[in-house]
Formats: sequence, structure tokens, C-alpha cells
Amino acid sequence: MRLAPSILSADFSQLAVEMKEIESFGADWFHVDVMDGHFVPNMTVGPVVVRSIRARTAAVLDCHLMVKDPVKMIPWFVNAGADVITLHLEALEDPIGAIEAVRRAGKKAGLSIKPSTPVEALTPYLANLDLILIMSVEPGFGGQGFMPESLAKVKWLAQHKRATGASWVIQIDGGINPTTAMAARVAGVENFVAGSAIFSAPDRKKAWNDLMEAIR
Ligand code: DX5
Ligand code: ZN
Repeated sequence: MRLAPSILSADFSQLAVEMKEIESFGADWFHVDVMDGHFVPNMTVGPVVVRSIRARTAAVLDCHLMVKDPVKMIPWFVNAGADVITLHLEALEDPIGAIEAVRRAGKKAGLSIKPSTPVEALTPYLANLDLILIMSVEPGFGGQGFMPESLAKVKWLAQHKRATGASWVIQIDGGINPTTAMAARVAGVENFVAGSAIFSAPDRKKAWNDLMEAIR
């Protein structure tokens, strides 16, 4: 079980300081939400920021590309020092080619689906992935409410993983707090992205501990 703090809810004017604080709680993985204003109605950061934080942390940098043309950007994030590159199925014409491009570069490949995409759509790609990200909010913004419908997708994946002995990690992203994290853990989630529940908490250390308690 792993908690993956999403820096989307951090103060970007002092990102390294904020990340060090969360690392002091035990974080060894950061989720970086990349948005281009086309695939989602919001814009965030790109490879320039990933390169800067790469120089400041040894933690895993998990880049979630919510962009219209992810294939073009794979080498940008590879060169910036990403460890995991997660692509949205909805943005890909050739998912297998894109996944292979990530893996050929020596990075872990993730595939994500939005709430409106059925989980069965992942079936052709399950043999070639390191991570599967189930969105439990409409991608674009932090601080939204968890969509409980996403748990059925997680259960389907967990069942498939048990049946086939697959090694990919099931990740969930959106609306994760101690209550929803516990429900997600029961359903089969192994990697929990949490943004506002950590960074916007009045006591971040307590928020971290409460989440860790929920996913243990
Ligand atoms: C939403 C992003 C999430 C976001 C989650 O599009 O993919 O990673 O940061 O934020 P919370 O945890 O606040 O729902
Ligand atoms: Zn994300």
C-alpha cells in the first residue's frame, strides 16, 4: 500500500519546501498532475517543473498526463526525470504503441480511464502495464467529491489481477480522504493519490497519519 501525495494542491511558489515537509512524514512517491487546457479545462505544470523537482527529491515522480497529445510529450517527461508516466486511454490512438514508447525509455507505464470510460476498455492493454489509474473524479481539479461508482472498476481489476497473477498496481485518484481510502482499499486499490486531503489540511502530519492508517 502506498500513499501518493498529489502536488496539485501544494503551494507552487514554494514547491520544494512543501515536498520536503511531506517527505519528512515518509512520502517516497509524488503524483504530478500535468494538464494542458485541452484534454481537461485546466492548466498546470510541464517538464520544466518536473526537471526542477527531480533535482530536489529522490522520491518516485509519477506523472499523470491529462493532455490531448500525450505521445508527443512522452520524451519530454522522460528527459525531465519522470519515473512513472501515466497516459489517458481516451487520448490515445495507438495505446500499445504509446505504452511501449514509455517502456522503451526505461520508465514505468501507466494507463488511466476517466469516470465515463468502462473498465473493460482496458482489457487489450492489461498485459503490458505497470500501473492502472482509475479516476474517481472527473479529471481537471483537486478537491472534488469521490465518485463511488469507481469502486466497481477497482473490484473488476482486482479480480482480474488475482485471476491472472498480473503485476500492475491499481491506483486511484480523486476525492481520497481516510473514509474513501478505506473503501478503496477494501475494493483492491494499492496506490492512493491524495491532494487536498494532505496539502489543504490544517495539520498535514495528522492528515498524512490518518490516511496511512486508513490504507494499512
Ligand atoms: C485531478 C487530479 C488529481 C487531484 C486529486 O484531475 O488528477 O490528482 O490532484 O486531488 P484531490 O485529492 O484533492 O481530489
Ligand atoms: Zn492525478
